[in-house]
Amino acid sequence: MTTDPLLALRPWEAPEVTSWERLPMNAVDRRAGALPLDGDWRFQLLPAPQAPPGAAWSTAYVPGAWTMQDTDDLPAYTNVTMPFPDFPPRAPAANPTGVYEREVEVPADWAGRRIVLQVGAAESVLLVHVDGRPAGVSKDSHLAAEFDLTGRVRPGSPATVRLTVVKWSDASHIEDQDQWWHGGITRSVLLYATDPLHLADVSVRAGRDGRLRVDCRVRDAGGALPEGWYVTGDLDGLAIAQDTDFDRANAEDERVSDFLGEARLAATVPGVRTWSAETPDLYALTVRLHRADGTVADLSRHRVGFRDVEVAGRDLLVNGERVFVRGVNRHDFHPLTGRTVSYDDLRADLVLLKRFGFNAVRTSHYPADPALYDLTDELGLYVVDEADVESHDHAHEIADDPRYLNAFVDRVSRMVLRDKNHPSVLIWSLGNESDYGANHDAAAGWVRRHDPTRPLQYEGAARLGWADPDVASDIACPMYAPLEDCVAHARSGRQTKPLIQCEYSHAMGNSNGTLAEHWAAIEATPGLQGGFIWEFADHGILQRVSDGRPAGRAGAGRHDRGVAAPGYRWAYGGDFGEAVHDGAFIADGVVFPDRTPKPVMYEHREIAAPLRIESRRHEGIVLGNHQHFRDLSWLAGEWRLELADGTVLTAPAELPDLRPGATAAVPLPFEVPRSGGEAWLTLRVTVAEDQPWAPRGTEVCLPQVRLRGPAPAAAALRTAERVEVDAEGLLVHPLLTAAPVLSLWRAPTDNDELGGMAGRWRGWGLDAPVRTVVSVREEAGRVTVVAAYTAAAGVVRHRQVLTPVEGGVRIEEEAELPDVFDDVARVGTVFETTAGLDVLDWFGQGPWESYPDRSAGAPVGHHRVAVDALFTPYLRPQESGGRYGVRRFTLSGRDAPGLTVALDEPRQVSVTRHRAEDLTAAAHHDALVPRPTCVIHLDAAHRGLGTASCGPDTSAGYLVGAGVHRWGWTLGVV
Ligand code: GAL
Ligand code: MG
Repeated sequence: MTTDPLLALRPWEAPEVTSWERLPMNAVDRRAGALPLDGDWRFQLLPAPQAPPGAAWSTAYVPGAWTMQDTDDLPAYTNVTMPFPDFPPRAPAANPTGVYEREVEVPADWAGRRIVLQVGAAESVLLVHVDGRPAGVSKDSHLAAEFDLTGRVRPGSPATVRLTVVKWSDASHIEDQDQWWHGGITRSVLLYATDPLHLADVSVRAGRDGRLRVDCRVRDAGGALPEGWYVTGDLDGLAIAQDTDFDRANAEDERVSDFLGEARLAATVPGVRTWSAETPDLYALTVRLHRADGTVADLSRHRVGFRDVEVAGRDLLVNGERVFVRGVNRHDFHPLTGRTVSYDDLRADLVLLKRFGFNAVRTSHYPADPALYDLTDELGLYVVDEADVESHDHAHEIADDPRYLNAFVDRVSRMVLRDKNHPSVLIWSLGNESDYGANHDAAAGWVRRHDPTRPLQYEGAARLGWADPDVASDIACPMYAPLEDCVAHARSGRQTKPLIQCEYSHAMGNSNGTLAEHWAAIEATPGLQGGFIWEFADHGILQRVSDGRPAGRAGAGRHDRGVAAPGYRWAYGGDFGEAVHDGAFIADGVVFPDRTPKPVMYEHREIAAPLRIESRRHEGIVLGNHQHFRDLSWLAGEWRLELADGTVLTAPAELPDLRPGATAAVPLPFEVPRSGGEAWLTLRVTVAEDQPWAPRGTEVCLPQVRLRGPAPAAAALRTAERVEVDAEGLLVHPLLTAAPVLSLWRAPTDNDELGGMAGRWRGWGLDAPVRTVVSVREEAGRVTVVAAYTAAAGVVRHRQVLTPVEGGVRIEEEAELPDVFDDVARVGTVFETTAGLDVLDWFGQGPWESYPDRSAGAPVGHHRVAVDALFTPYLRPQESGGRYGVRRFTLSGRDAPGLTVALDEPRQVSVTRHRAEDLTAAAHHDALVPRPTCVIHLDAAHRGLGTASCGPDTSAGYLVGAGVHRWGWTLGVV
């Protein structure tokens, strides 16, 4: 048996033990002057916490999960299911335990000072020993733990610091988030020193009226506080004195303790510049703690944003304005380092979000790396700060289990204590998917008392009844609620809280259908204020295919524009040999693992556009400022007029001086030519002056209006040529390697699979109907082919009429779907070209991928993209690369004759290197071999994408049903 008291206590199976010898959480910034302890540590991985360490050490890099480094304990993915069967609060006997050790040279000039060790994050139980003696215990995997080492280390001498990290514990049961399981020290470690007389905490409150209040808590490591200490402040050069009306330091007040000093700084800033996500104005505050003789004992720096947040009725108000919340859920995730994210990575993530119109982040489902909040303050993003509590698999038992009461309150309160001074934090969240119980109300009670300045939310409480006055939620924050239900709730007359979905529009694979419908409803319905898309990034881990191990830091650069390099792939659940896992459900972000934006990002950017245009019958072109706080002076615009015939006119746009919410008619700088067909006016909006998140010239949005519809198409002239078909009635054409046939199948998207549609389609036999020719008739050079497509559940009759016309073949098609096929993926044509065609030019929506229910962000125009770049490499191969609203296109190659297609109406088109069955069969991209040909789909109708992998399917208007479908197109050669 072990004699180490920390091990003997078995803290990994004691939920009541949240820490031992850990210092209270606080918001004092200690980074300046600290001794960083990041880098290589001696390391060994034990099979269980009580297994004795051996003599053989390897090394592990700190910060970093050992599961992403060279150990045999690999990442594992489960969504809800715990990765071990033991019931809370038990941990499994096989319990990987990492021992990190190093010598620390404690600076000699720290003699007489208070010395503190800070461990940024350790997963899931941290045991600290110094020179072999126990020094502390901590849980709460996503918050720092501090330990006072004064007296345990000697300045000028080396000390051996050992950090033992136990992977599975009682705490794992409340850290059961939908993500990879890891183990290790995932944030930085440092040592710092202060004077014995020190700032124990600093709380800043700053309102939009310019009033500033800074509360300081002061302690002395020696015990009782010395006489005569005081605090001063400095706000952007403005000296702030201690508030003498609040004198807990020196007053003859019975409540004044000898051990805890409390003092307040107060000031009012005249003409204050307020903080909001649009105007993230910050002031620099320095707080100084003085000894009686005026010398400075301690100091803390903060950045202050003056702003108000409140819930008034069913509105969430920032500085009195009902702001829309255009949010996303974000995990601390990196494809090479797992849970560890650098400052630069964090900054790049948030810059990307700003550039695509997001103004809010929910830190799903635990407090993020502390640098995130500095950046959200600075760049302007509202934050829902979420505590590290998710007991998904055992939610009901744990929510009321008194053994976990302390852990709930501990985690929520520590988050609040750490992050309270950030203006970007608008709302506290008690956690995620943990049912609702007394433990939540206890945590809510603590927050309400400690920080009455912010609302708090918890989906588990809010979900039970959106109109109930729950203790634990000021916001109605359901997840994946159908849009109709949200609108009905807002119109019911019973709504008592703002409705802001904590998760909606699940971005798994090719998804996010009907995002524009959501926003049209949100903007039009009082009581609806937005939501947080699930989620920011795909959690694909870069994996070496050869040995199945995470590539780790050595994988840097082994990916390009969302695609893993040859020899690598993006791993998802099951790829590390896990017996129990949830597959590709981990890949559900609006960006790829390497942060390459998916097409939905452009959809979002347009929906969130700060500037919009409309074409009104009597006023002409009207511009609207759709921001809450800013005018348009930070934006520049350029008009672009595009006609179907290829004419393009551009001119700089004068943006009017518009207050938020205001509109104005503006003159057009050019005459629209009388001829040229369909005409589209686009305002290309860019950043006019550098923003913290975008240099001048960065594209912000591309709002567009149609000025003129298509001219009636002239009937194509018939020629005396013949159309050639083979015995099966299949078109013979020099540029085609596979003739146009009917297609009723798309490689199922994740939504199709998890929503059950793909299973139904397979059951009906739509993945492989058998084509038989019924008749082929030729009349005056025009050929009519009738074919039957026989599937398990029914037969689809398909007719093609092929007519030789000037420049090619005109193909009129008709498909008749029996009633049983009341919801199919698509009805259209598929064919394949010869090799050597590699560039697509089209007139229609683009340039990025679009689908019928995700097409608000792809403007109509003349677009040109390489065929290989048309395809979107969603992690699990599936239908992708489509373009909505295509009128005509040309496919060309350097050495080959080109092919043109003109469509009777704007249609869904895709041109890729993959057949639908190739995509259906592959689980990863490394299993997908591009064909040299082009596979072309022209759809009479294409089903919307919806979000059914987790949430509502597409809306009824985007379904493709039974009955007769007709479409026509002309195939030519150029
Ligand atoms: C929610 C959950 C998230 C994630 C998402 C599905 O239920 O809060 O953590 O699992 O669904 O991707
Ligand atoms: Mg969950």
